[in-house]
Parts: sequence; structure tokens; C-alpha cells
Amino acid sequence: MNTITDILATMDYGKAPEDSATVRDWLKKNEAGFGHFIDGAFTAPGELFEVRSPASGELLASVTQGSEEDVDTAVQAARRAQPGWAALPGHERAKYLYAIARHIQQHARFLAVLESLDNGKPIRESRDADVPLVARHFYHHAGWAEITEDEFPGARPHGVCGQIIPWNFPLLMLAWKVAPALAAGNTVVLKPAEYTPLTALAFAEIAAEVGLPEGVLNIVTGDGATGAAIVAHDGLDKIAFTGSTEVGRRIRRETAGTPKSLTLELGGKSPFVVFADADLDAAVEGVVDAIWFNAGQVCCAGARVLVAESVAKRFETLLEKRMRTLRVGDPLDKNTDMGAIVHPVQLDRIKELVAQGVKEGAELVQGTAPEGCFFPPTIAMKVEPASTLATEEIFGPVATVTTFRTPEDAVALANNTRYGLAASIWSENVNLCLDIAAQVKAGVVWINCTNVFDAGAGFGGYRESGFGREGGREGMMAYLAHPAPQARRPEAALPAPAGQPGGPGESAGTRIDRTAKFYIGGKQARPDSGYAYPVQGSDGPVGLAGLGNRKDIRNAVEAAHKAKGWGKATGHNRAQVLYYLAENLSARKSEFAERLVSFGAAQSAAQAEVETAIRRTFWYAAQADKFDGAVHQTKSAHVTLAMHEPLGVIGIACPVAQPLLGFVSLVLPAIAMGNAVVAIPSQSHPLAATDLYQVFDTSDLPGGVVNIVAGERDVLAKTLAEHDDVEGIWYFGTRDGGRMIQEASAGNLKQSWVEDGAARDWTGRDGQGRGFLHRATQIKNIWVPYGE
Ligand code: NAI
Repeated sequence: MNTITDILATMDYGKAPEDSATVRDWLKKNEAGFGHFIDGAFTAPGELFEVRSPASGELLASVTQGSEEDVDTAVQAARRAQPGWAALPGHERAKYLYAIARHIQQHARFLAVLESLDNGKPIRESRDADVPLVARHFYHHAGWAEITEDEFPGARPHGVCGQIIPWNFPLLMLAWKVAPALAAGNTVVLKPAEYTPLTALAFAEIAAEVGLPEGVLNIVTGDGATGAAIVAHDGLDKIAFTGSTEVGRRIRRETAGTPKSLTLELGGKSPFVVFADADLDAAVEGVVDAIWFNAGQVCCAGARVLVAESVAKRFETLLEKRMRTLRVGDPLDKNTDMGAIVHPVQLDRIKELVAQGVKEGAELVQGTAPEGCFFPPTIAMKVEPASTLATEEIFGPVATVTTFRTPEDAVALANNTRYGLAASIWSENVNLCLDIAAQVKAGVVWINCTNVFDAGAGFGGYRESGFGREGGREGMMAYLAHPAPQARRPEAALPAPAGQPGGPGESAGTRIDRTAKFYIGGKQARPDSGYAYPVQGSDGPVGLAGLGNRKDIRNAVEAAHKAKGWGKATGHNRAQVLYYLAENLSARKSEFAERLVSFGAAQSAAQAEVETAIRRTFWYAAQADKFDGAVHQTKSAHVTLAMHEPLGVIGIACPVAQPLLGFVSLVLPAIAMGNAVVAIPSQSHPLAATDLYQVFDTSDLPGGVVNIVAGERDVLAKTLAEHDDVEGIWYFGTRDGGRMIQEASAGNLKQSWVEDGAARDWTGRDGQGRGFLHRATQIKNIWVPYGE
């Protein structure tokens, strides 16, 4: 028998199993199989698939594989319920959400046990992290339901939302999607992941228990084919997806050109940066939370540990020692630190990636794990930055460790990824932490902490980690639509411009001697093609514009990248430049009005367009230092800063009509927020924009902040949409063009804003506002702990 001295020496302790009897009774009751939850009731089970516990392999339940018809029935139920649900006073919707939150608390232990059985995560996590956060989400969003009308005036729900969620936080991801959707007045068809559908079905019972009106929440189970049927259904107004980048990209392509709004929360390969002056013991605990929480099956897992060279040895020793104390095993044992991997398929994927990493030279330090669907906690050393383990999302308990010398190296390594979901930064010097937080490309940055979540703060990524935020005010905005203006007569496709040899500056065989070049990097540039095209006025051609091609666009993108210092300039500095620009435009207003008249505009309309362009420039100059962020009221002891950041380089394809005002209305908000732009001016009348070169030159606008390439809009815009170094694309043109842009932008998952070019009256209220500034920015949430 062990003596107390033995036990103190080994710290070994026995099992502390959680009681699963109630959950097993529930599973037994449903052993004939689960149907879907549609229109307030469970359907009869259909074609069934098995759901097994990954830890033991035991059969837990049989669940229905949703067909296209099932999806359609659910969408129809949601559609019928939506007007009534949206028409309820916010207070009434709030009461339902409060009731759901309370019932989740009442069933907390049941839900935690069910989640751990189904997913394999330790009961300590499902009990102390997942389920409390689920309840918190419903409470928080009950509040949003109450105040939506006051806080988002003029907004309306999208309608019916299709929601597809992954298996790593099954109930929590459901809460992140369902709570804001319902709060905003949408109804929902949700599909849980095929490995882990059980807590969603238990949640459906809770919805019925609180008397949620029929059809407001519908749960359809099934695999990727059922998910694809949801995405393809034309009765849905919004798709919200969390899962792999590969499927996210496919969904972007499939929803291109449809009226469906889309938010994607995808993968990550998040850096965990440890500076030499960090509290190393705390940072080691941080790594435990970052990569061994939920066995690393976390989209924002701190999978790449970057540690200052001077402390690397000590840190690695501490980390290895701590890793060896982790207990891997039965998820229902309260002493377990790391449970099972969700499914043998995922285990194989982890094993393959790790084997590939070893082939590429990685050296592994590993803890232990039992036989079965388990993988030991693993540290991979000697990992080259370009190797598989450093670049691919492993979604398992595997951290790479790399050293750096200077903060600049650390930032370069941190940003050396296609993703941009999260980052964790460790140093006792908060100035350094905030400086690095500003430089890393990630939607969430945790300072001296990691994997902290709250319903009050937004969560979501940059770049290939997707777009849209969940949680907080930003998350609500993703479930609300501001009615976009509709075109009475949609913009018609223009014929391709007729290029003629003899580029700008040369006689082109017409009566015109004035020809416009491009504006790239603050200098005028000849088109690569050597071709130009005539710009028609009321009375024949009034000038020639260069005919751009892919090469010109690439040059312009390169110039825009070089101008990224603009994004770091203070709002005040940007405002000064924009004020100067407005003054210079004002000094030359008659010249601009004449140009518009030459295109055929009436004198009064031309003057009005120029006057509005000037006022608009002042308006965005005013906003440059005022459109700021927020400090969120998160539940834990953190100051959570929601900072607006520029997207980076935005491609802008301008509408045909109102060639000066359309251009100014789109380019100005983008640069006011610190972006650099590559703009394609009105295809028919680009000279209204090319006349602006001299105004830019005399206004201290740094070269490369605005780049202009004229030519065939859709051809040039496609190159921008496909370009990996363009972070956002705004397209105002034809419907077919819009679809093409959304498809082409799926490559690097850039944010797209697509509208009919004829829909907005640029002279009126539709032509300016905070909505444009929201489009020009993304929110980075920075968590800074306080207190001892
Ligand atoms: P997945 O992206 O295939 O699955 C996520 C959800 O999408 C599931 O509900 C699935 O049924 C559904 N789905 C699959 N194909 C679909 C389609 N064509 N249309 C609509 N819905 C579809 O992820 P999977 O295969 O389970 O995991 C693969 C890898 O993805 C993991 O190793 C991990 O790297 C990553 N992943 C990332 C997640 C995140 O939270 N960012 C979550 C899950 C996986």
C-alpha cells in the first residue's frame, strides 16, 4: 500500500470518475435513433449513422443523416417562423434567451458529461469552460435582443440563417451562432458536426422545454453532404460557417453571386511569443492552455511557440517538465488533463502530419498517452519556418518551438502564416506587448494570457482565418443587415474598351492630344500594353486613357504594399493630408466640373458632383481620427481593447456613373482608415479620376497610397480579386461581375463588398457614412489582464 510519503513524492492519485448515469439513461431512452428537430418537434429517425465515444469506442447513439428534403423542410419551417419572431418586441425575444440560459445552467452537468462522452474532451473543460460560456452567451445575447432596436437603428435581421458548426466545441459553437442570430430576429437551421451532434440535440430539447416558438430553431444532423445542401438552399439569407479553411473556401465559391450574406470562422496557426523578460513559469502554463487545452483541437491554438533565444533553454526545460505531468486519458475522470482525439480519422491526420514533420527534420519530445484514440502531448523542435509542422494546421496537441533574437524577428515569424486568427504575447513589459500586439496580423491578441473568451468581445480572424466576428457588438452586426440600396435599373455591362496602339503621350491618330497615364507609387506610369482607349464625351472622344492589364495591376499592388506606412500614421496625420486634399480639390473645382460637362453632364449636375466630392473629402478627413474602437466589458479581469485596423491593400472597382463622386466616395473612406488602394476608375469616364493625380501630388499624400489603373473593369478587378497580396475587394458593377469577384476572391479569402454599380445615389445619404468606415476596417481584440 502507498504511504503518504510515497504519494507526496509521486503526486500520484487515483481515479475520480464523473457520474454519467443520467446521460446514459437519456441515451438509452433514445436508442432507437434521433431524428432532426424541425418546427418545434423531433422527426422520426431516418437513415442513421453511428456516433461513438472517441475515448472508449462505445456506441453512444444513432443519428439521422439529413437529406436535401430534410434541409428543405427545416428551411421552410424557419421561413414560416421568421416574420413572427422578428416582429416580437426585443423584450419578448430576450425572455426566451434568458430562459434558455437558465435552463442550460440547470442542465449544466448533464450537458458537460454528454459533451465529454461525445467529443472526448476532459470533463474539467466541458464543465468549467464550455458549458459556463454557453450560458454566458445566451445571457449576454438576451441583453442584445432587448436593445437591438436602440443600438442598431435602421438594421433588420437577415431572415433565415444556415449555420454549420465543427466538432471541437460542439455546444459552444452552437451558442456562438444561435444566440446572436435569435437575438437579432433571425430564425435558424443549424447543422452540428457528424462526430459530435449530441449536445445540439439535447439543446433542441431545451428549446422545446422553454417553449421557443416552433420553427425558430431547427437542427438537422448529418455530414458534409447535409452541410452542402444547406449552403446550396436558395431559401436562406445568411450562411455562417466554422470549420476548415478548405470547406470555407468552397462555401465562398458556392455562395458567390447569391444574395446570401456570409461569415466564415476558419483555421489558424497562431503564434505564442515568449520574450526574455516574460514570467517563464506563467508562460509555460500558458502553453499548456494554448496547445493542450482540448488536445489542441482549437482553431486559435497557440501552435507555434516562439521563444527568445536567450531564455530558450530554460523555457524548454520547464516546458518539457510540465508536459510530462499531464495526464492523458478518460475524459470523464476529473483528474484528466487531456482527453481523446475526436475521431480516429482526425487521429490519423495528426499522425500523418507529425510523421511528415519528422521526415523534414523535426525532433519530438512527447509525453505519454493510452492506447486508442489518444495522442500524446508533443513538442516539436528543430522545425524550419517553411516546414509542414510550422505551416499546416495540425489540430492536435502538437506545438512547435522556434527561437528568435529581436522583437522584429518575432513579429516576422509570427506573421509568417496564411492565417491570422489569434496570437499570445508574453513579457512583463506591457509597452513591448502592446507594440507587438499592434504588429501581429491576428483578430485576437492575448497579452500574458491565452484562450480567453467571452460573449462580450468579438472573436474572428484575418486573412485565411476567415471574416466576420462572433461575440459582442461586432458579432451582432454579423446577424443584422442594413438595407442596401437597390438599383432601379441595374448597371449594364459595357463593351470592352477598344484599345488602340500609341499609348498615352503619343499621337493616337485622333483629334485628341490629351491622354491619361496610370498613377502608380505616386508617379504617372505608362500602360504595360502600350494601348489606350478613347473616352467618349457628348460630342465624340474627349481624351484617351491607358488600357491596363494584369501587369499594371501587379505593379500597382506592389506600390500599394510599399505604402503601408500610411496605416501606421496617426489619425491626425491622415486627417491633415485629407484636409489638404479637400482644399486643393476645392481650388480646382471649375476644372473638374468642366471635365464632367465634357462627358455630357449638365452644368448644374457637374457642379453638384464636384461640390459633394469636396464636402465628402472633408467628412472623411474629419473621421480619420474619430472612428475609433471600444473597451469591451468582458467578464474576467481584462481590459479588452477592440481596435479598428485597416485591412491593408484594398482593390476598388468603381461604378460607371458619377465618375468623380463614385471614385471619391469609395477611395476616401478606405484611405482615411489607413488602407492603401488600387482603384479602377469608371470604365467609361476614367479621366474624372485621372485628373486627381495633380491634386494628390500637391496634397502630401504619400506615393502608393492611391494607385489608379484604368481599363476594362471586370478584367482588372478579377486580377485584384485573385491577388494574394490584396486584403479586400470592393466591386460596384454588374451582377455577373459581382459573382465573378466573389468566386475569384475565395483564393486568399479576402473580404469582398459587392454591389450593383447603379444602386447608390452617390450625391445623397447612401454615398457616405460609418458603414463605409466599417468596411474599410477590421477589429482586433486585444486582451490585457489586470490585477495581481
Ligand atoms: P470540416 O470543415 O470538414 O467540418 C466542419 C463542418 O463543416 C462539419 O459540420 C461538416 O459536416 C461540415 N462540412 C463538411 N463539408 C462541407 C461542405 N462541403 N459544405 C458544408 N458543410 C460541410 O472539418 P473536418 O474535416 O471535420 O476537419 C478537418 C480539419 O479542419 C481539421 O483537422 C482542422 O484542421 C480543421 N478544422 C477547423 C475548425 C475550426 O474551428 N477552425 C473546426 C474543425 C476542423
